Amino acid sequence: MNKHLLSIHDVTAEDIVRVLDTADSFREVGTRVIKKVPALRGRTVVNLFYENSTRTRISFELAAKRLSADVINFSTGGSSVSKGESLKDTALTLQAMGADAIVIRHSSSGSPYQLTKWVKGSVLNAGDGTHEHPTQALLDLYTIRERLGRLEGLRTAIVGDVLHSRVARSLSFALVKMGAEVTLVGPPTLIPPTAPRWGVEVSYDIESVLPKLDVCYMLRVQRERQRQQYFPSVREYARLFGLSRERVAMLPEGALIMHPGPMNRGVEIDSDVADLPQAVIEEQVTNGIAVRMSLLYLLLGGSGAAGAPPIPVEEPEQVALIGGVRGGSPAGTSRGAHGSEAGGPPDQEKLEVGADA
Ligand code: MLT
Repeated sequence: MNKHLLSIHDVTAEDIVRVLDTADSFREVGTRVIKKVPALRGRTVVNLFYENSTRTRISFELAAKRLSADVINFSTGGSSVSKGESLKDTALTLQAMGADAIVIRHSSSGSPYQLTKWVKGSVLNAGDGTHEHPTQALLDLYTIRERLGRLEGLRTAIVGDVLHSRVARSLSFALVKMGAEVTLVGPPTLIPPTAPRWGVEVSYDIESVLPKLDVCYMLRVQRERQRQQYFPSVREYARLFGLSRERVAMLPEGALIMHPGPMNRGVEIDSDVADLPQAVIEEQVTNGIAVRMSLLYLLLGGSGAAGAPPIPVEEPEQVALIGGVRGGSPAGTSRGAHGSEAGGPPDQEKLEVGADA
């Protein structure tokens, strides 16, 4: 693995398989009572978000915390950025504070590349302008592989506002790299003219594509990035390209419906379609934590490094101390619950020992 993850072009197909396999090991951690392993204990991860985000920021934060890293969440409001500090000075400050990894989201395409010139730690691109969002693509691949058992040879479509979508770019590159077929579908105004060079097909007619698909990936209409009128009205867009119940019926049985979120229900996807069993949108979110754990672990020198130890994801012995039952805590017990069961605050020392074992 490279030191940084800026683009899907930074990883080989073998790297992708390693990231997904490692995520498999980490996913189980999220099902435990104490969702923590000591893999990155003593390392510092900074979330540097210059653009709004809910799921990506929280997902990276949880991933780093579950690996026992120290996490600093930096957002532009309330920081020196609002006083005019440049990205360079912010980066140098974080560097001086010893950040081992910086997760950056920025509205300018290319800013993560710039950041790598100023800091010594790993840089992970959490979305740069309309360029790339590689961790989203990897969590999408994980979800597809988990549900359908493979990536190679799958027939996929990415539907909607491809022009402004960093998700569409990263996901197309990743799917093509793994041997899947990709068709980009949308109005001609929202398909980049360079798209055929990505190794994908292009279609302007969703209904002719749906019956052939294993995966139908809907994109958000990114109105905040649209600088001109790309389609006559939202209602017309929904009629021509939205995923309605009638269109879901055109998909083969077993085909997945995906969306990176946040969704515009009623525009690119009908509200009831988003809640169908074949819509795996919540699974994408859950899997995102394991995939980001895997990436942080591998980029910060986990088993990607020669001779490195295996991933320490064993269930901590000390859980027994906390749960009062050897071999694990009763289901549903949590830190808070223990505190109140004991009639006082949780035993912090035992909890921390348990978390770090
Ligand atoms: C992104 O930040 O690109 C999101 O994950 C997808 C979107 O905003 O539509």
